[in-house]
Amino acid sequence: MMNDGISIEGPLDIDVAAIARINEAQFRGNRGSIPHAKKWISRLKSSFPIYQYYVLLVHGRVAGYVGWQLHGGFLREEPPVELEQIAFAQEFQGKGLALRLIEKSFKMVAEFLHQESPLAQQAVSFVWTYEDNAPALKMYRKWFNGEVRGTRNLYGKVEVMLSRIVPLAAE
Ligand SMILES: CC(C)(COP(=O)(O)OP(=O)(O)OC[C@H]1O[C@@H](n2cnc3c(N)ncnc32)[C@H](O)[C@@H]1OP(=O)(O)O)[C@@H](O)C(=O)NCCC(=O)NCCS
Repeated sequence: MMNDGISIEGPLDIDVAAIARINEAQFRGNRGSIPHAKKWISRLKSSFPIYQYYVLLVHGRVAGYVGWQLHGGFLREEPPVELEQIAFAQEFQGKGLALRLIEKSFKMVAEFLHQESPLAQQAVSFVWTYEDNAPALKMYRKWFNGEVRGTRNLYGKVEVMLSRIVPLAAE
């Protein structure tokens, strides 16, 4: 734990119920049903290492989580790694915590990739977000330094993709 009471845990030692409560409150996909949120998260957790959850705790309480998803197999030279989902409980938003979680957790994902495949030189990290999600875009632009790389419309609203090439050996 750091001096300010913040710690980061994962990918396996995570509180699924705590993530489920945040997921249910922050996203429409499991809105109104903690059991569905739990089921979704525990299934993703069990697909480790393809999907990896990390949580940020403030004085031992789960404030937020991030899920990183690997794409395309283990042995690519430039594995694509998606920041598939991130959310913080309402009272922990706007405090700069998401960036800390992204930075720390990606180091752990990078370490895994580096160990798993000596061929992997750099990761193509990316994220999709609604173009009108101003807090998310503002925060993502601090880490995903690339320009918008594409758009899609899967959930009835336009999303944009930001990306960043991250050298793995140096991470
Ligand atoms: C998006 C999210 C993960 C950002 O994490 P965070 O730790 O709150 O990010 P930051 O503290 O760096 O805030 C980023 C910017 O958004 C603003 N912001 C954050 N939360 C906000 C909120 N609830 N309402 C309005 N503005 C907010 C911050 O003030 C900051 O702007 P600033 O740089 O001008 O001060 C978090 O707000 C969240 O959980 N949102 C709900 C779930 C979500 O949208 N996830 C992303 C899906 S792609």
